Parts: sequence; C-alpha cells; structure tokens
Amino acid sequence: MMSNEFSSGVPVPGMKIGGGARRFLFLLPVMIFLPYLLSVLELHKFSTSVDAPKKRGTKSDHLVLGPAAGQGLRNRLHCQGTRALNKTHHTVSQSSNSGENVAFVTVFTIYNSSEKNAETRSSDLVTIGNTSYTKLERSMAILDSFIDFIQVTMPLSNVIILTDPESDLRMDKQRVTTYPIQGEYSRDRLMLQRIRSYIVRVHCALQVAFLTTRLKELNSHVQGQMSHYIFTDSDIAVVDDLGQLFDTYSSFHLALTFRNNKDQPLNSGFIAVRGTAEGLQRAKEFLEEVLKAYTTRYMRASRMLGDQLALAWVVKSHPSFDSRRFSKPVPFSEELNGASILFLPCALYNWTPPEGAGQFHGLPLDVKVVHFKGSRKRLMLEAWNFFHSSLNIDDMLCLVLGSGRTKYDF
Ligand SMILES: *[C@@H]1O[C@H](CO)[C@@H](O)[C@H](O)[C@H]1NC(C)=O
Ligand SMILES: *[C@@H]1O[C@H](CO)[C@@H](O)[C@H](O)[C@H]1NC(C)=O
Ligand SMILES: *[C@@H]1O[C@H](CO)[C@@H](O)[C@H](O)[C@H]1NC(C)=O
Repeated sequence: MMSNEFSSGVPVPGMKIGGGARRFLFLLPVMIFLPYLLSVLELHKFSTSVDAPKKRGTKSDHLVLGPAAGQGLRNRLHCQGTRALNKTHHTVSQSSNSGENVAFVTVFTIYNSSEKNAETRSSDLVTIGNTSYTKLERSMAILDSFIDFIQVTMPLSNVIILTDPESDLRMDKQRVTTYPIQGEYSRDRLMLQRIRSYIVRVHCALQVAFLTTRLKELNSHVQGQMSHYIFTDSDIAVVDDLGQLFDTYSSFHLALTFRNNKDQPLNSGFIAVRGTAEGLQRAKEFLEEVLKAYTTRYMRASRMLGDQLALAWVVKSHPSFDSRRFSKPVPFSEELNGASILFLPCALYNWTPPEGAGQFHGLPLDVKVVHFKGSRKRLMLEAWNFFHSSLNIDDMLCLVLGSGRTKYDF
C-alpha cells in the first residue's frame, strides 16, 4: 500500500477532502531532474557478476544481468540477454485509445522535513546513467516512471496522486492531478511517520477518504463521466492495458491480487475498484474493514507484514472463504459481505521480479503489472530508461527478468 520512505501522512477521524472544492494543483513546472537515457547497446554495463559493492551494505549500485528464469517453460518469456525470443501478448502498439474511464490512484507525499534538506551529502547520492539522485529525487523519479509507463500503455487514463496539502508536490504532466487531502498534519504528528505500520494505515485511510468523496460526487452528479479506479503503489510498471479487466470480469466490485503464500497471500499494492456507486460503496466498506483490522490487530507488525496480514485477515475471517483457492494462479470471485471480490493472480497483475521459491517460474507472456518491491527501485528506473530508448516492452521485460534477482541500493 506504500512504496517509499517519503510516503507518509497522518489521518484524523472525520478527515475531509479539501472542503468540497477539490484542490488540484497541477501544471506547475518543476523538473527536478532530466533522466539520462541509457543506451540499449551499452550491454557491457550489465555485468553478470556482483562486484564488491562500494556502499550500502551488500546491495548493488549497478544492474546485474543474470540468467532469465523460466527457460523451457511454456508460456514464459524466453530471452537472450536483453533480447526477447517471444512476443508477449501486449497490446501496446494498438493501445492509442486505451485507458479511457480508468484512473490510477497512488499515495505520495513529501514532507518539508529536516531530512529532506539534509540530503545533499555525496554519500546519499546514487547514479543512474549520467544522473545523480538524492533520496528525494529518487522518489520523484520512481513516481515519474510510474506515470510514464501508464502513459505508454494506457494513454487515455488519468493518474491521481493522493497527497497532503503540506507536501508541496507539483507535477508537470498531462492527465496527472495531485489531490491533496486535508488532515491534521502538525509537527509532532510528523514524528509518527517513522512508525511504518502507521504509514500503512494512512494509505488505507487516504484511499477510504478518496472513495468517500468520489461516492458523494457520484451521488450528487458532480462528477461527469464514470471512472474506474486502480489503487497501486507507485513502484509498479503497468505493461499492458488494464482497462480490459473491467470488461472481461464484468461483475466485481473490487479486485485484489493473490499468490500462493500461506501467511501472506494478498498484496495491497494493487486494488481495482469498479466506478459504479455500488462498486465505490462496497470497496469503501471493505477498505474500512481492513483499516480497522490494521488498527486493532496489526499496528505493531512491520510495515510489509501489517499491510498484508490485515488484508488477509479480513478476507479469511469470512466463514465462506476457502483459502485453498490461493494455491492455483487462476482468477476467481468471492462474495464477501455483499461485496463481489475478484481475486487476480499476482503472477499477472502484480508480478515481482524473481525471488524465493518463485524465482524459477519466470515471467508469464501475458503479465500486466510489474512490481518493483523492496530493493528493486533502481531496476525500475533502469527499466524505464531502457524502454525509452528501445521502445520494446518485451526486451525491457527481459532486462527486468534477468536483473530482478539482485538487491539494489534503493
Ligand atoms: C518462446 O520462445 C522459446 C524459445 O524460442 C520457445 O521455445 C517457446 O516455445 C516460445 N513460447 C511460445 C509460447 O511461443
Ligand atoms: C520548507 O523548508 C525551507 C527550507 O528549510 C523553508 O525555507 C520553507 O519555508 C519550508 N516551507 C514550508 C511550507 O514549511
Ligand atoms: C554520459 O555518459 C557517457 C559515457 O557513459 C558520455 O559519453 C556522455 O557524454 C555523457 N552525457 C552527458 C550529457 O554528460
């Protein structure tokens, strides 16, 4: 539900969105950096061994291209270096009008804290291509490539960034709006941003607040056209048209992603919500239930765990739910408390570069979302740079598949 250390904020009961009038801040020109475009041909840079890292413990400060997992498996991407041997099922070339009626919603806030200002020490800089990034610039770069990927695969979709009014976030991009949500963000409250489980709760609270407002607008006919919403972390790359989801599965209210993991079967980094009044209402109620579970049960759990445990707890606590369905990566639907929930396999809708037991499974040819969880943020920026110069999603996926087993420096 959260994806970077700058994401934070504090909800208060009865949180409101910008006093009725939505306060969109946009089109204020701010280019914090210019991403340098990595040459596709510079493959020698992708060493196949891990050099002794110069800093940041054992994490690599450059891409490491290893063997691609899943070779020999049917319906998996096969690669030769960064060249794809298969065509994936992606529709990017015909997608010029995809994304209509879909908005991505992500939570991203930056505080004008002392941390932010004390960041210019050279040891905090990391370099990608020819560009050096501070911590803050890295976060902004991740957000930028999140948006860039969406604009390639779903050019007509909108991106909404939930933030808080103090975070001073400006985006100079078409179809992107920041949506400040008014809360009580006092100084001492900011201390709480260090408690990571708290941040998870904030994300969920912001999502609930957002849905509440949209629901009100829909009911009072303020909002013109209906829009479906996909809540995601900002460290994901959308590599295919997700709008089809709402047509293919025409009856769900909200969709979650699952994997075959007994303790953490659900990931909150991707939640799709149908834009009808009932969809918004059911999703809101469901997320409120999750929020309550965080608060009452998992506040002490680490950020990642609290996040996933609360979601899983809410789902599994429904007596009718059979969690054995998580063992096979095929979509299924369940009716929970009146909400029709579609469960989508992470392998397609929330694919994380190979790790753990999943590392031999490779990359499905119809993957739709790649999630650069944990220490894979560098890979996300390198992947965007690579795509930007090669304009080939399949080759880029080979870069991700081959490089995703390494832990990077941010
Ligand atoms: C993908 O490419 C590999 C290697 O060329 C081939 O063996 C495999 O059959 C292809 N898969 C599909 C589904 O075409
Ligand atoms: C942000 O920090 C800068 C430098 O410390 C300061 O000048 C500015 O007033 C701060 N802005 C806000 C809104 O707190
Ligand atoms: C970036 O680095 C390459 C060498 O890797 C160099 O040839 C190029 O001139 C540099 N570009 C800029 C804008 O500094």
